[in-house]
Amino acid sequence: MGRIPQSFINDLLARVDIVDIIDVRLTLKKTGKNYQALCPFHDDKKTPSFSVSPDKQFYHCFGCGVSGTALTFLMEHDHLEFVEAVENLAGLIGLEVPREAGASRVRDNSNLYEILSRAAQYFRESLKTSPEAVNYLKNRGLTGEVARDFGIGYAPEGWDSIAQAIPDVSEKLLLEAGLLTSNDKGRVYDRFRERIIFPIKDTRGRVIGFGGRIFDGGSGPKYLNSPETPVFHKGRELYGLFEVRKALRHIDKLVVVEGYMDVAALAQAGIANAVATLGTASTEEHFHKLFRYTQEVVCCFDGDSAGRKAAWRALENALASLTEGRQLKFVFLPDGEDPDTLVRARGRQGFIDLLDAALPAIEYLFEQLGDGLMMQNLDDQARLASLAMPHIDRVPRGILKDLMLNRLQSLTGFVPQRDKSSSPPPSRSHNVNSSRLSPLSKRLLTYLLKKPELYQTLSVDKRCELIAQDEGDLFLDIVKYIDENPEADTALLLGRWSGDTAHGELVGLFERRVDLAEGAMQAEFVEGVARYIAGANSALRRRLLAEIKEEPSTEKLKRFWALKQQSHEDLADNDDQGN
Ligand code: UTP
Ligand code: MN
Repeated sequence: MGRIPQSFINDLLARVDIVDIIDVRLTLKKTGKNYQALCPFHDDKKTPSFSVSPDKQFYHCFGCGVSGTALTFLMEHDHLEFVEAVENLAGLIGLEVPREAGASRVRDNSNLYEILSRAAQYFRESLKTSPEAVNYLKNRGLTGEVARDFGIGYAPEGWDSIAQAIPDVSEKLLLEAGLLTSNDKGRVYDRFRERIIFPIKDTRGRVIGFGGRIFDGGSGPKYLNSPETPVFHKGRELYGLFEVRKALRHIDKLVVVEGYMDVAALAQAGIANAVATLGTASTEEHFHKLFRYTQEVVCCFDGDSAGRKAAWRALENALASLTEGRQLKFVFLPDGEDPDTLVRARGRQGFIDLLDAALPAIEYLFEQLGDGLMMQNLDDQARLASLAMPHIDRVPRGILKDLMLNRLQSLTGFVPQRDKSSSPPPSRSHNVNSSRLSPLSKRLLTYLLKKPELYQTLSVDKRCELIAQDEGDLFLDIVKYIDENPEADTALLLGRWSGDTAHGELVGLFERRVDLAEGAMQAEFVEGVARYIAGANSALRRRLLAEIKEEPSTEKLKRFWALKQQSHEDLADNDDQGN
């Protein structure tokens, strides 16, 4: 099949309305020109931060920063591949998806999928003919139902069973599908012989490869897997993911284990959310995929040193996927156990307890990096900071990154240089806690978020006095930002602070009702700013006075008297206005 022409995609996007697409999936509320909803892509319980613009045919979440078109929404929300999403949209308006003619860059693998599907069926049927294989599965605690759900089969003994089962397909294609193999003498024969067969499916449910387990004293390695083929890439696929999606409408968390049998045994015990990597370590692509379907991933590792190593590699490969709201946790299994043996020994609840007690990956990171270091020791503090920063840098901006930075800071006293371009403005402790904001600051923030241009209506003097403050709260942070970015509108402000701990509070303040006419709001803002400056100055005066009592200096006295003078003038100003 050829590529879908870009012109068709443009046409498609022009003809569907993003509001219709999203409206049937989320509860949209009209607010002015746009629509709002709770964001489906992060844990958005309190404030609807997901906004849909019919004008721009675009969505954007001020909370987690995702944005895109109707097409990307379908891909992300319904977990569709690009082509599926295009077909879905086209179907809605009754269009056939055209394909470019001629040599396409995209290989046509449809015959491989068909061959693999036929092979899977053959293996399933062969299982019925082998009481030994059925017995083996029974002895391992699997019922016929689970065997059916996973399509487990049996590859009989012999050398040419597959070629006989699928006689109309060339040897070349069977080799390409990984069903046949050849020795150095050029002899071609069945890859899977006398093995229990686990078909591996992609997320669309197409069979892409097999894993085969030896049983009852057969020969060769315990597991034999399909080789890399045009449709099977070990480092990308997750065994069981299709079955999880089929079993669960909403996937709270995904549990990553090592083996086929672990996935099957967990499903047998009623834990239907396990997937397995295919005998490889978890890759970046694995995590990218896992987090497309869930917000929480729990990886199970052996408790031994090999398991710890694997956990560390997994952590490194996961960091870049840890955007807002996503969690990665680790479970280290007791010596000599795997999820299969554990769930059989401890039962479903016993295993769930283990998952609930999983170690957050960030704890693991600091535990590993800090191993052997003494945090009272300055050198070791610096060492931890320099070890941790490259890892923290790879985490996308958001609460998790902030938590990691705060953690590092509390362990080492080291104040990390936050990268201006990729992280939100510094959120110092003063604005982390909402109760720290005075009612005045809250009111000023509400006005300013609704109408950032209010800042420009302040006199130059007042603007200078404001931004000259070197200590302040969230209001001052926003003021300083607007001062540097005069074009900032509400969306830009909320967007700039998305991922910051203060973001939720900002949205809340922005949404407060203001029953004031436009002119009155401006007057209140100007008056409020004067009070804000006066308050900040008097706090500063009190601090200076205390310092002067401790240790007098002419410098401090001068500043103190200047402030005092200014506050008299401010009072006089206010009196003038009052009269
Ligand atoms: P395990 O040896 O832990 O297998 O390998 P398991 O799942 O516990 O199997 P049982 O319980 O003995 O049946 C874990 C995974 O590593 C890969 C397979 O994907 C297996 O599921 N593996 C293992 C191989 O590819 N080849 C092997 O020879 C062994
Ligand atoms: Mn096992």
